[in-house]
Amino acid sequence: MKIVITKDHKESCRKAADIIIDVVNSNPNATLGLATGGTAEQVYDELTESFKQKKVSFKNVKTINLDEYVGLSPDHEQSYQYFMNKFLFSRVDIDKNNTFVPAGNKNPEEELIAFQTMLNQHPRDFQLLGIGVNGHIAFNEPAGELRTKAHIVDISQSTITANARYFDKREDVPKQAFTQGMGDVFSAKKIVLLASGAEKADAVKALILGDIVNTWKPCSFLKLHSDLTVFIDQELADLIGYEQV
Ligand code: PGA
Repeated sequence: MKIVITKDHKESCRKAADIIIDVVNSNPNATLGLATGGTAEQVYDELTESFKQKKVSFKNVKTINLDEYVGLSPDHEQSYQYFMNKFLFSRVDIDKNNTFVPAGNKNPEEELIAFQTMLNQHPRDFQLLGIGVNGHIAFNEPAGELRTKAHIVDISQSTITANARYFDKREDVPKQAFTQGMGDVFSAKKIVLLASGAEKADAVKALILGDIVNTWKPCSFLKLHSDLTVFIDQELADLIGYEQV
C-alpha cells in the first residue's frame, strides 16, 4: 500500500485524477471502476478540467460503478446514476452506452444478475474508492462475514445516518443497495482510495495503521491488495497521528 499525504483534499483529487488520466492515456479502451459520494466529486471536476484542456479523452472508455440505491430511479437526484451523469458523463466525451450503474428501479434480482455479468465481462483496470465512516467499501457494510460477489445489502444504520445529509428526511434514505462484492472490488488491477474529514479517522486508522484485517472494518482488507494508493490530507493524517515514512 502506498500512502500519500497531500496538503488538502483538492490536491488528493488532482492526484487521483492524474492517475486515472495515465490509465486512460496508456489504454484508451480501459475499464474504470467509479465511485460516487462527496469525496469523489472533485475528482470528476478535475477530470472534466483535463478533458476540456484536451489532456484526456473518454471516447472508448468503459465504466462500471460500485453501487446504487435499490428503489431510486436513475433520474432521482440522490441516485448514483444521477450523480455520475451530473459530475462526469454529461461533461466529457464518454459514450453513455459504455457506462454501467445498476438501475435502482428495475427488477432487483434481474438487475443484480446484469450487474455481476457486467463485472465478470469487464475486469477493471482501475477502481476509485471512498471509505465509509464505519469502514465500509462500496456498500460492503461491517458484518461477521463479507461477500465476494455483487449482492443486495441492507444498508447499516450508521451509513443511513451518514447519508441522511443528502435527503430531506432520514426516512427517505433507501434501506437497501446494490453493491459490488469485496472480490469484485479487489479484482481491479489498480485501486485509489481517497479520504478526508475527521469522521473518517477511525476507518482510515483501520486501513493504514496496524496489521489486522477484520470484517467489522471492511476497508482493512484493502491491505491485501497489491496496487493500492491511499490519498489523505494533512489534517486527517495529523488527526490519526500518521507521519509519512
Ligand atoms: P462520502 O462516501 O464520500 O460521501 O463520504 C464515501 C463512502 O461512503 O464510501
